[in-house]
Amino acid sequence: MIRVLFVCLGNICRSPTAHGVMLGLLESEGLSDRVFVDSAGTAGWHIGKKPDPRSQQAALARGVDISDQRARQVSAEDFETFDYVLAMDRSNLEDLKALYVSNGRQGAEPKLFLRAFGRSYDEHEVPDPYYGGEAGFRHVLDLVEDACDGLLADIRQKMDA
Ligand code: 4NP
Repeated sequence: MIRVLFVCLGNICRSPTAHGVMLGLLESEGLSDRVFVDSAGTAGWHIGKKPDPRSQQAALARGVDISDQRARQVSAEDFETFDYVLAMDRSNLEDLKALYVSNGRQGAEPKLFLRAFGRSYDEHEVPDPYYGGEAGFRHVLDLVEDACDGLLADIRQKMDA
């Protein structure tokens, strides 16, 4: 089983979107039982909450239902249980690195942006859409769908290796 964790700040916009998009991809490829997907936030503000309604709506418009998700906060243990710990932006990555160091550097180092797997946009971060308009939420879907395609290709290579 390969385990993937998407991480953003609040775990109510970007990482639940990536979580849902990746689940949909895996299901359509018949790989749901071989890859485990989860998401978390570096902050604990929204623990237990559903994704932001704007994210739910933007995802649903692409055929992805994320309404069942509930926010949780990332923990040091996640570095030990996940093969991929993927940050949405630079700030998430810095926060993850600080958590990793404070945990005595055990497990997989969080060194990757989700967008490292992107192919179609020249953007290395998935920008925080929280304080903006609906176009920002649609852009999150564009960036996440593109990167999840590339991530799936990387996972397939891992499986074949
Ligand atoms: P996310 O977006 O990190 O993509 O879930 C945000 C959600 C909430 C807040 C900031 C960003 N907030 O400030 O509460």
